[in-house]
Amino acid sequence: MDSSDVAPDLTEILVTQEQIAARTLELAAQIDTDYAGREPLLVGVLNGAVMVMSDLSRALHMHVRMDWMAVSSYGAGTKSSGVVRILKDLTSDVHERDVLIVEDIIDTGLTLSYLIENLKGRGAASVEVAAMFRKPDALAVPLEVKYVGFDIPNQFVVGYGLDFDGRYRNLRDVGILAPHVYS
Ligand code: IMP
Repeated sequence: MDSSDVAPDLTEILVTQEQIAARTLELAAQIDTDYAGREPLLVGVLNGAVMVMSDLSRALHMHVRMDWMAVSSYGAGTKSSGVVRILKDLTSDVHERDVLIVEDIIDTGLTLSYLIENLKGRGAASVEVAAMFRKPDALAVPLEVKYVGFDIPNQFVVGYGLDFDGRYRNLRDVGILAPHVYS
């Protein structure tokens, strides 16, 4: 789906598919360098990180393993509840593995800080984060993120895996959702 297909629902196109593709190559090059000689386990956070995982993993030149977790998110609303629940757990053992969590967006950071502690608690050798988007003004907890695609304003955005009420995940660009859609 292109931005033109849902133009009335967006107040602004924030990041285009071309910008995402270019930034993905930069992040992948950095990850290839940092993990040289190792084989990290990429842990994608369902459902939003599907696009990031798909594009970022294929842009890498090294072997990786992939696994998925699903955690509770916003449901139909646009505000974080702060409550994190594991809906689907990993199938791999992360003990002594270099784990790279792949996320779509960091808003309050509550989901990620929970996941990082959880994976460290399982004995991972290292836990780092790659997130395509981050809202620095929304961060509620201190969070070190090694790989960030774009810092964006504190607005509710959709596209490239990010949904509102299940929709817009298949939008190629990322745009700010117009208030009339959710109010
Ligand atoms: P956090 O725990 O507040 O950082 O929220 C992280 C999760 O909330 C993300 O993985 C998304 O699923 C969802 N989320 C946060 N901000 C947005 C947004 O602007 N659009 C769509 N989903 C969002």
